[in-house]
Amino acid sequence: MNDKKKIALITGASTGLGKSMALKLSKKGFDTILASRNFNKLEEISHQISGFGSRSYPFMLDVRNEQSVNDLKNFTKDIGFVDVIINNAGFGKFDEIRNLEVKDWDEQMSVNLRGSFLITKYFCNDMINQKIGTIVFINSVAGKKAYPYSSAYVTSKFGLLGFSRSLREELREYNIKVISVHPGAISTPFWENVEADFSKDDMMDSDNVAETIVHAVLAPDNVVLEEIDIQRTLGDF
Ligand SMILES: NC(=O)c1ccc[n+]([C@@H]2O[C@H](COP(=O)([O-])OP(=O)(O)OC[C@H]3O[C@@H](n4cnc5c(N)ncnc54)[C@H](OP(=O)(O)O)[C@@H]3O)[C@@H](O)[C@H]2O)c1
Repeated sequence: MNDKKKIALITGASTGLGKSMALKLSKKGFDTILASRNFNKLEEISHQISGFGSRSYPFMLDVRNEQSVNDLKNFTKDIGFVDVIINNAGFGKFDEIRNLEVKDWDEQMSVNLRGSFLITKYFCNDMINQKIGTIVFINSVAGKKAYPYSSAYVTSKFGLLGFSRSLREELREYNIKVISVHPGAISTPFWENVEADFSKDDMMDSDNVAETIVHAVLAPDNVVLEEIDIQRTLGDF
């Protein structure tokens, strides 16, 4: 009997959208590799997932650090082929350009853009060899539309869109799907240190957004939802 389940790697799985996607994919029968810096939170989620009858593997990852990504790759060797990568780890630093420090800019690029590149680079070779796989980029509405006081975040996400579009064209011939997801505001810890003039109560629910993304991941083999804009029915703030 073949009990090989599909395996999904989710970065930034400790909170918010990453956590919601990890729980939903587990309920759909995926084994999951949960990666972020906060190992305790990942272990709690892993415990929750064990109740669904799926396996999950927490791993302490810092996407800024190539060695950490390399360690994650080695860690997954005993687990098996990673069918789905979800590049979700990210954060937003919102301020006027005159207040934005160089280290803020570097951090935005390092986590949101370079981190997704590193994960993809380390994991796509196996997909190319197997001629199958799905790579998801959790981008943002800010990856297609510019907002003020967001220059570093917007730049990192526009860059991520360019990366995903280029990669999609390159990896088609290997039967690899590249999905770029562009949500509007979601009620998650993302907003905890952000001064916003709109309420978390009016934002989208992370479980609802995760549901839509999992639906895209589960699309039939010969179909790919290449770019997905997910917005409140009421529209942008
Ligand atoms: N919330 C929104 O309104 C919204 C809208 C559009 C797009 N997005 C995007 O959605 C994604 C998820 O955000 P969220 O809203 O779910 O926010 P969140 O709850 O703050 O989650 C961010 C995740 O990223 C992880 N992370 C941050 N830095 C990391 C690093 N250096 N290495 C590894 N993991 C790191 C965090 O885990 P640790 O702290 O444990 O490392 C956390 O799990 C982000 O890419 C964000 O840009 C969010």
